[in-house]
Amino acid sequence: MSNEKQTQSEQNQSEVILILDFGSQYTQLLAQRTRENHTFCEIIPCQSSAAEIAARRPIGVILSGGPSSVYEEGAPQVDPEIFELGVPVLGVCYGMQLICQNFGGRVTAASKKEYGRAMLELTEEGQVSALFAGVDACSQVWMSHGDKVDVSPGNFESLASTSSCPYAAFKLKDRPIYGIQFHPEVTHSRQGREIIRNFVVGVCGSHQCWTMANFIAESVDKLRAQIGTQRVICGLSGGVDSAVVAALISRAVGSQLTCICVDNGLMRKNEIESVARVFRENFDVNLIVANARERFLTALKGVTDPQEKRKIIGSTFIDVFSEEAKKIDGAKFLAQGTIYPDVIESGGAKGGQAATIKLHHNVGGLPEDLEFQLVEPLRELFKGDTRRLGLELGLPEELVWRHPFPGPGLAVRCLGEVTEENLAILREVDAIVVEEITKANLYRETSQTFAVLLPINSVGVMGDGRTYAKVVAVRSVSTVDFMTADWSRLPYDVLATISSRIINEVPAVNRVVYDISSKPPATIEWE
Ligand code: XMP
Repeated sequence: MSNEKQTQSEQNQSEVILILDFGSQYTQLLAQRTRENHTFCEIIPCQSSAAEIAARRPIGVILSGGPSSVYEEGAPQVDPEIFELGVPVLGVCYGMQLICQNFGGRVTAASKKEYGRAMLELTEEGQVSALFAGVDACSQVWMSHGDKVDVSPGNFESLASTSSCPYAAFKLKDRPIYGIQFHPEVTHSRQGREIIRNFVVGVCGSHQCWTMANFIAESVDKLRAQIGTQRVICGLSGGVDSAVVAALISRAVGSQLTCICVDNGLMRKNEIESVARVFRENFDVNLIVANARERFLTALKGVTDPQEKRKIIGSTFIDVFSEEAKKIDGAKFLAQGTIYPDVIESGGAKGGQAATIKLHHNVGGLPEDLEFQLVEPLRELFKGDTRRLGLELGLPEELVWRHPFPGPGLAVRCLGEVTEENLAILREVDAIVVEEITKANLYRETSQTFAVLLPINSVGVMGDGRTYAKVVAVRSVSTVDFMTADWSRLPYDVLATISSRIINEVPAVNRVVYDISSKPPATIEWE
């Protein structure tokens, strides 16, 4: 009896929804929204055959959106046998159009591309459909398509329409095969989260067992099996991913883990100290902090070109890290914070190739003579999953929610030559910016907020005297994927406090400007 129970719970824990990727910019977001329902999902190539999919025993399949037109020659198709597997299917945008075409409906070019908000009106069938349970009869959704379903297949029922789209949602009458023209994964689809939950839980019947507590239990077993009694090393950068990897491996193999933190002198104020404290106080790990500040500064002397700075920092990091790693007797494994987007973007999920090694500074790789075996326990996780895992492992909120910080650190925020004096100024200014943003409860609302020290002086007046001092720029952006970003509309009073504090507290600075450029055409960092 207990064995049977265990088998059932194991089965529930291994439930998976597969997302066939037809190339939409929103596919990763769709996967993240699916996972928010404590249900594991994986993005797989759109060419996957029904047999390959059946072998994974998914509880549901989602066909993503994509930029092609289903009726064009060479447009990616879906293996029609997928619809015969008896597994619920949800087609989103292009995915819906594929379903339509497969079942004999017609897809045509819309008279004009529809991009933006639309009002979704549920039909009578829609209002009682499992997909729209709890969704208002009329709700805002986000459209982004050039084609639309013109004639619905015969045995489908329409669940919803918009003013320009007669079939904005439909369902095969006798099977759980659904199509929706809008994107439920973007926040502009006001009840999109409910619709995704309805599909995952209501239609696919997920038991919602993919919790971080279960993930930890499973990973700890796997890590112990992989590592045995050997020693592992892990580079700790102060960022979320490396901290979570270290915490997870420490949970699995305790003091067999040695963390190496390379202090390159380019970190934010108190950063190294606070990461070191968290690990020393809460985890049973050996921690080496390698003070290499002088070495980095000397290597950067006189260098002003940003890419040159990156190269120097990358190669110096490798030298220091390798030297420290070689001192650890018998270390066989190297733990890395590779996360799912890195795997997808390097082709690992699509082509089954190994992910390229990504060090936290993103420059170069480790030399081959180190000969470590890689341990990458976060390969299946998105950033949001990683953060939830970090909290479950007991890492503090400030560390788990830390904004991304570039590997080359303050060196690319100190425009021009990097000197100890400039770094000291920038560290103080940056700390004020972060402190005030946090005080105003805006740290979690913005994606990345920081200061940049400009390589110019400007004239000012202080008391009766003229000053000729440094200028700093404050940069704050909102973004989902860091590929595009908009500048944050920070309240004027917060900007005012930041500015006056910087000018009053950092004597070397007499002017503060706010960066109001979006990406593109600007980048997030200035260098
Ligand atoms: P950009 O400036 O390209 O930045 O819009 C996008 C994101 O990447 C971070 N960034 C880096 N991260 N090494 C890194 O590890 C780098 O050389 C680097 N340059 C930029 C940047 O902070 C932002 O989050």
